[in-house]
Amino acid sequence: MNKYKICVIKGDGIGPEIVDETIKVLDAVSHKFNFSLEYDYKLMGGAAYDVFGEPLPDETLQSALDSDAVLFGAIGGAKWDNLPREKRPESGLLKIRKALGAFANLRPAVIYDELIGASSLKPEVIQGTDILVVRELTGGIYFGQPRQKDENSAYNTMIYSADEIERIAKIAFEAALKRDKKVCMVDKANVLETSQLWREVTQEVAKDYPDVTLEYMYVDNAAMQLVRNPKQFDVILTENLFGDILSDEASMVCGSIGLLPSASIGGKVGIYEPIHGSAPDIAGQGIANPLATILSAAMMLRYALNQDQAAQAIEDAVKQALAQGYRTKDIANYDAKEICTTAEMGSIVAGLI
Ligand code: IPM
Ligand code: MG
Repeated sequence: MNKYKICVIKGDGIGPEIVDETIKVLDAVSHKFNFSLEYDYKLMGGAAYDVFGEPLPDETLQSALDSDAVLFGAIGGAKWDNLPREKRPESGLLKIRKALGAFANLRPAVIYDELIGASSLKPEVIQGTDILVVRELTGGIYFGQPRQKDENSAYNTMIYSADEIERIAKIAFEAALKRDKKVCMVDKANVLETSQLWREVTQEVAKDYPDVTLEYMYVDNAAMQLVRNPKQFDVILTENLFGDILSDEASMVCGSIGLLPSASIGGKVGIYEPIHGSAPDIAGQGIANPLATILSAAMMLRYALNQDQAAQAIEDAVKQALAQGYRTKDIANYDAKEICTTAEMGSIVAGLI
């Protein structure tokens, strides 16, 4: 029997609730497909700061490095907002992404027919939307040096090397080959030098993929086009900050930020995480949507463990749960038959495996 070790990081806010439900589903799927998962629970974010005084303790990073994959919930909360930047929960997440070399963040934004009514956009605009946001995750303004702040001024540095751009561009083109063969590179090349370099490098990479169409779009226009006509996009390739912003926007095209999974890959060990944050305002109420994390676990099975059938089984179970009318509060619209709690949704999906 295949055995895998998973470093599980629940995090803060709704993190623990949504990860618990995902473990239910993973247990069901591993049982059915005859492999075993060993979970190594570790702390990161505010929860880790409270115990270790660090948002990413060494033992967490070590466990991640020794695992086949990392399953992560969410981090952050008002309690830790006033800490110095390097102690903040978010710094733990950025550090683990960097340390694992997870430079490619894949964020699929797919609309389920059952949820057409849950989006704030018109059905005819969103029906059929199927976008893959390929977000660069370990560079750009998130990590660029120098950076500094005092009382009167502050600055950050948006910096990219050609190598960093080339490797993420290749990921986008490879992904496009398996989809509709279109890459839209989103940038701000009318203002930023970094964006100009992104265009030059991406254009070179495109030469190796003659079957893929490459187009460019300024980020302000892309933000507008995403809600005007999301169906025009196949793969969106973009830098770290733009990808952060546009993927939240894409999630609302699909109905809720509680639905979008992601895979942060490129290094030896990948991180599988929902795109949303820790939502402290709804933590502990049992109303958070666990589906983004459950679908992230499906990505983990596919990309890290090569368990394609098991991944598919999770995705099918989620579709079935929605088709049967089960909804958490965030996606409950007129056609919801039953509004379920976080735990009920986890059990329903697990039961459909
Ligand atoms: C995300 C989140 C993180 C990011 C935060 C929590 C640091 O918003 O995964 O999109 O900005 O990358
Ligand atoms: Mg974000």
